[in-house]
Amino acid sequence: MDAAQRDEYLELLGLEVCPAAPAKPAAKAAAVAPAKPSPPAAAPLASPAPEPAKPARRKLTAEQPAPAAAPAPKLADADIANLDWQALAAKVAACTACGLHQRRTQTVFGVGAQSGSLMLVGEGPGEQEDLLGEPFVGAAGQLLDNMLAAIGRSRSADTYIANVVKCRPPGNRKPQEDEAAACSAYLDRQIALVGPKLLVALGGAAAARLLGQDTPVGKLRGQIHDYQGTPVIVTYHPAYYLRKPADKRKGWDDLKRIRALLAE
Ligand code: URA
Repeated sequence: MDAAQRDEYLELLGLEVCPAAPAKPAAKAAAVAPAKPSPPAAAPLASPAPEPAKPARRKLTAEQPAPAAAPAPKLADADIANLDWQALAAKVAACTACGLHQRRTQTVFGVGAQSGSLMLVGEGPGEQEDLLGEPFVGAAGQLLDNMLAAIGRSRSADTYIANVVKCRPPGNRKPQEDEAAACSAYLDRQIALVGPKLLVALGGAAAARLLGQDTPVGKLRGQIHDYQGTPVIVTYHPAYYLRKPADKRKGWDDLKRIRALLAE
């Protein structure tokens, strides 16, 4: 992205323009998975296809390792942990493990680069997502795409996006603990399949799910946490920035940190 584009994106975020970011090293670009075609808006999943084993990504150092959060997998979870993309998507599409399935139009599996070095975790589908079958397609999603573009990233090229729960919580409420737990093996498997260099929790529900602690986002920001060996950054949910545009500066600070960590 050239400087003019970046300035344009920052304006879209409602932010003043900062000095240009350091260029991404060419070697890093080669390490990013080739872009996979985006699905049409109504498709539930970005081309699920079994992927060969990938070499381990270099791990970033966690400055403040979070306590080991993940509970031991349930028996059924052990099966899910072996599924490939296609089988996992099918399993999610047929899921009735919690009450959320009763009111869904469809499940919302995930979207983006299945080998992306960056993986974003949101809370759960909203109305638009439930209708279209893709995460973050409403107003918060547009802001999220602008935020990604501001650091030279996109869901179609190098970033994977999934939610804590795959069915819409009624009235866009936060997923309950049992609903997040019922979906946890799916998200765990998505993370394992993507193998991101960096995870970003968008909002408190995602942070609670990944870190196993119910700490306010404001306290978790600015540190590098850990999810089963993968570094985690916590930032506010894009919907929060829509509600509180004055705090977008914090989002931009987090984006710069994300960009720097991915460039390491
Ligand atoms: N909010 C989320 O957390 N996820 C979505 O997919 C859409 C809105």
